[in-house]
Amino acid sequence: MKSYRLMYPMRTYLVVAGQGNETNIMAADWVTVVSARPFMVGVAIAPQRRTWELVRKYREFVISVPSLEMLGDVWIAGTQHGPEKLKDMNVTLVPSKGIKTPSIKEALANLECRLVDEKDYGDHTWFVGEVVGSSHREDAFVGDSPNLEAGFLAHASWVDFVTFEKKIYRPPGVRG
Ligand SMILES: Cc1cc2nc3c(=O)[nH]c(=O)nc-3n(C[C@H](O)[C@H](O)[C@H](O)COP(=O)(O)O)c2cc1C
Repeated sequence: MKSYRLMYPMRTYLVVAGQGNETNIMAADWVTVVSARPFMVGVAIAPQRRTWELVRKYREFVISVPSLEMLGDVWIAGTQHGPEKLKDMNVTLVPSKGIKTPSIKEALANLECRLVDEKDYGDHTWFVGEVVGSSHREDAFVGDSPNLEAGFLAHASWVDFVTFEKKIYRPPGVRG
């Protein structure tokens, strides 16, 4: 067993990078918030990925939050190489608000990132982006909370994905 599997289940995201006919999408589990103010996110991308080249070339990327309905597209994005895969995917690219890299219309949310830092760690590069714009589906969030019935996607192991159920647990003695 690969030791990093001990970190699972993890959420699965899509990374959009590139512009025009270079626009590409890959799947990424290794994504996290690194700062709230300013809002910054990081993603680990291996240098073999076309996405790696495109993030370095255009210095921006979008972190899209896919839904369970998009699992087929997530799998294509995570197993095929380069923009040709978009022909096999059922996603609609739409203009972002703050950057030139497009967002994904069907995604639950899109975080538009301007690259602010990158550093190699082992076999991946850690890219940090400042979130300069965002969009989300109205049905995916209620106020500050996710609508757990919208089909947020998580990754259990290689080909196994899961979603959330609307069952809320609170720490003992803590009221909402
Ligand atoms: C669910 C899933 C999660 C993945 N997470 C990552 C990740 O966090 N970082 C990474 O470099 N590759 C990750 N990959 C692999 C890339 O998505 C895959 O190599 C993809 O084909 C790269 O596409 P590209 O060459 O067009 O950029 C993941 C694949 C899958 C299926």
